[in-house]
Amino acid sequence: MKSKASAPGKVILFGEHFVVYGVKAILCSINKRVTVTAEKTTDKKIFINSEIDNLILEPNKLISEINSPLKPFYYLANKVIKNQNTGIQIKIDSEIPLGVGLGSSSACCVAGAAAIFKLFGDISKEEILELAIEAERTIFENTSGADCTVCVYGGIMEYDKKQGFKKIEDEPNFQLVIANSNIEHSTESMVSEVKAFTIKNKEEFSKLLEQELELVEDVLKLLKENNAIKLGEKINQNQKYLETIGISNNQLRKMIEIGQKTSFGAKITGSGGGGCIFAITDESNLEYTLKEFKDNNFECFSVEIDFKGLNTF
Ligand code: MEV
Repeated sequence: MKSKASAPGKVILFGEHFVVYGVKAILCSINKRVTVTAEKTTDKKIFINSEIDNLILEPNKLISEINSPLKPFYYLANKVIKNQNTGIQIKIDSEIPLGVGLGSSSACCVAGAAAIFKLFGDISKEEILELAIEAERTIFENTSGADCTVCVYGGIMEYDKKQGFKKIEDEPNFQLVIANSNIEHSTESMVSEVKAFTIKNKEEFSKLLEQELELVEDVLKLLKENNAIKLGEKINQNQKYLETIGISNNQLRKMIEIGQKTSFGAKITGSGGGGCIFAITDESNLEYTLKEFKDNNFECFSVEIDFKGLNTF
């Protein structure tokens, strides 16, 4: 018997990094997915097959012994077969570019937890989310949990570390253009860099937290008004805060400059240091924005909001 699940990638519209310190973030899932297929095997091993790596491992290894970006899958498979006389074969197919802030690792953890655990019985979305966050912690211990949450439930949501998530039911009709710097980044090291900033600049950071909090509250009102122009201004404002905490660089600034000129607003999405930026558009400036990124030799594509979230087959 095979079990299959797919989960979407994500864009953080507002509040990355600040969410780690308790401020609300606003995220949406996007129509690019990871699909995971899992199957029991008679050989009591864990087989993981993907475009980036192929592993065949004995069960019960220490997670610290596994040096592969696929270790969340090992963690999940090992946990589920602990008292079972079976092995597991896992196959991963992804449409989400890796390591560029579009939630590929969270989507892997969510689709992985669902496909692997469904082989052994029914499991709720809440339990899948819990397992996915545990698995994500094998690569990034201090995750806020925001990314896995939006991958499970889809749509647009506000997320706060303490209170969890609240879906935003408004369906604003903006479109997002993603531009990829193709600079790989590690969320863990970017979060550590921001931590160092907070220690060195205590007062400035606590002011920024207040400003971000205010900005997110304003945005929640603007989403109801469906006002892409005003949302764009808030996106540009959020980008200034991200510049201040030091997660930008020259390449990202070049991309932001193009996005802010052609669309309603543009900012980094995710942990920064590389990865992607997004620009908010509607039909009036979507094509122009894409063209300007392409003319400047930046990889770019448009995405829509995914309202399905986790899907199991
Ligand atoms: C990474 O996509 C988002 C961060 O805020 C980290 C986190 O929320 O866990 C940088």
